[in-house]
Amino acid sequence: KTVMTIVGARPQFVKAAPVSRELRKTCREVLVHTGQHYDYSMAGVFFEELRIPKPDYDLGIGSSSHGRQTGEMLISLEALLLENVPDAVLVYGDTNSTLAGALAASKLRIPLFHVEAGLRSYNRDMPEEINRVMTDHVSALLFAPTAEAVSNLRAERATEGVYEVGDVMYDAVLFNERLAVAKHRPEDFRVPAGGYYLATIHRPSNTDDPVRLRAILRALRSLDQPVLFPLHPRTGKMLKAMGDSAERTPGDNLLFTEPLSYLEMLALERQAKAIITDSGGVQKEAYFAKVPCFTLRSETEWVETVACGWNTLVDPLTMDLGRIIGDYRPGAYIENLYGDGTASLQIAELIHQYLQ
Ligand code: UD1
Repeated sequence: KTVMTIVGARPQFVKAAPVSRELRKTCREVLVHTGQHYDYSMAGVFFEELRIPKPDYDLGIGSSSHGRQTGEMLISLEALLLENVPDAVLVYGDTNSTLAGALAASKLRIPLFHVEAGLRSYNRDMPEEINRVMTDHVSALLFAPTAEAVSNLRAERATEGVYEVGDVMYDAVLFNERLAVAKHRPEDFRVPAGGYYLATIHRPSNTDDPVRLRAILRALRSLDQPVLFPLHPRTGKMLKAMGDSAERTPGDNLLFTEPLSYLEMLALERQAKAIITDSGGVQKEAYFAKVPCFTLRSETEWVETVACGWNTLVDPLTMDLGRIIGDYRPGAYIENLYGDGTASLQIAELIHQYLQ
């Protein structure tokens, strides 16, 4: 049996790596990279480090408006599906590549499997929220990472083919963390172990409003330790447009770097004093690393991290990040909040059963 996997953006490479490893034990996998992320630092390095097989197809569809990007992917994916006739299509997460894969497969009546199903922010201003809802409702197998995700699906009357398997990003961390720590040290990035903050910001809601982005930079510059800030290309472009130099000026505690590789990121997350982010995946990785997380958003899909006191939602416009971090006391750490590290194995088994 053949499964066509469609990935395109950085977090999807991380999620696909452990699943692909298991899937290839029982199925033939055809790997398609849409090209949504194309810089070496956003794509190539992840394939190398995570030892993801070379894509069978690289569609080379880069950045453009949502409609154009998704539409171009849809055209190419439909042609590929008609040519390859896979038994099923596998998509991950909530990006435009996910939505394009979901639409192309479901219109051709090819069974669709969705990893990270059922996540909701209940904020339709996020393009990802639209992508998730649409994808879930045309999927035959919905692999939910949490009980909350299952209950979100139930509330939308999506109950068939739903399995709570845990989070594949946890599988990826377990597989890679020792190598990451052995390979990379904070000192290599000019920050002292345990004495720095790690920040990532890339959501359009934070980057595309200069007032908000400036407030975030001000908050980071007010902190008591160096802040290592790997720049997503979108954020880098906005900073440049705003005239904020990515060069370090004397006395500046903000250290901009290129986007980090997966192993660099895992190692640096582990030794940070706290993590400040608007990424979905990084909120969970902070939890896995037992490092407090401060999320610069008004809501999160990963509600468990907030409920147990390891993740705090902060509005940089109205709240004092420095004070919130200073006053922070961690909650009790709950093991296995996101499964037991066998999500990928369970997914591969469920796919195998489905295709029998
Ligand atoms: C996408 C996903 C988001 C995910 C994020 C991870 C959607 C709607 N959003 O957002 O869910 O969390 O990826 O990073 O699919 N760019 C480069 N080089 C690259 C990739 C992008 O310069 O390799 C630039 C583009 O020119 C564009 C910007 O980054 O200006 C945004 O890229 P895009 O793919 O549209 O979405 P992301 O913001 O990365």
